[in-house]
Amino acid sequence: MKTVVVTGATSGIGMEVLRLLSREGYRVAGVSRTAEGCERVDVPDVKWFVGDLMQQREVNRVADEINAWLGEVSAGKLYALINNAGCARNRYTTTEDGYEQQFALNYLAGFLLTHRLLPALLHGGRVLMTASRSHMGIKVHWNDVMLRRRYNPLTAYKQSKLCDILFAKGLNDRYSEEGLRAYAVDPGLVNTAIGDKSGGIVKFVWSFRKPHGTDASVPAETYSLLCNAKQPELLSLRRTGVQS
Ligand SMILES: NC(=O)c1ccc[n+]([C@@H]2O[C@H](COP(=O)([O-])OP(=O)(O)OC[C@H]3O[C@@H](n4cnc5c(N)ncnc54)[C@H](OP(=O)(O)O)[C@@H]3O)[C@@H](O)[C@H]2O)c1
Repeated sequence: MKTVVVTGATSGIGMEVLRLLSREGYRVAGVSRTAEGCERVDVPDVKWFVGDLMQQREVNRVADEINAWLGEVSAGKLYALINNAGCARNRYTTTEDGYEQQFALNYLAGFLLTHRLLPALLHGGRVLMTASRSHMGIKVHWNDVMLRRRYNPLTAYKQSKLCDILFAKGLNDRYSEEGLRAYAVDPGLVNTAIGDKSGGIVKFVWSFRKPHGTDASVPAETYSLLCNAKQPELLSLRRTGVQS
């Protein structure tokens, strides 16, 4: 049985990915920000890990727990890591490490978790980053990566998603010869509560955009495809819009 770990698995896209992969016969683990979050999810037989992935010490703790669990259930191997946890913010807020929160969760958490789980993935594993098409037209602000000087929440969100795509490319450049493949998934506009969990202008704008989004079960099919398809089939998909 193949083992899959999904972060941000307690609502929206992550929860539907967890549900679909569980139905398809994968051994599924979810990472939840809170203990209460897992109780909201009606998917059977999920192994839950709890941690605030915005904080790097929490990512490290969760990674230790996942590695120990993989040792017990799957000889230390992980088939797929889905770095999906994400947030939107409407003002400049930082984590305990001093990072801007969208950058910390949407990008750094997935980077660090992947780094910590890499030995488990280097057996033909896959890493899926939930990206977005919002990276278009944006660049990394190397002189002020946290955007401290002139904070724009949308720019911070877009930059974090651009970094997810660059990270997937970096993983492929470094580890594809060792059997690892990484993908950045654009789920499209999806009707989830992501903007509602923010406040101010982000919540206001999201209230207009959200009703036009698809159900989260629609992008879940893309994650399923990226987990189920054989690598040669996936390479041919690059021509039809699934980015690797
Ligand atoms: N919705 C869209 O149109 C859209 C489009 C492109 C990309 N995306 C991306 O899709 C991903 C999932 O978003 P979604 O739309 O499905 O929204 P969502 O329902 O709000 O899902 C976000 C998930 O991340 C979790 N999370 C938030 N803060 C966390 C933290 N500090 N530590 C651990 N987990 C945390 C949330 O848990 P809590 O609820 O407990 O906070 C939730 O399970 C995000 O990366 C987002 O950027 C969404």
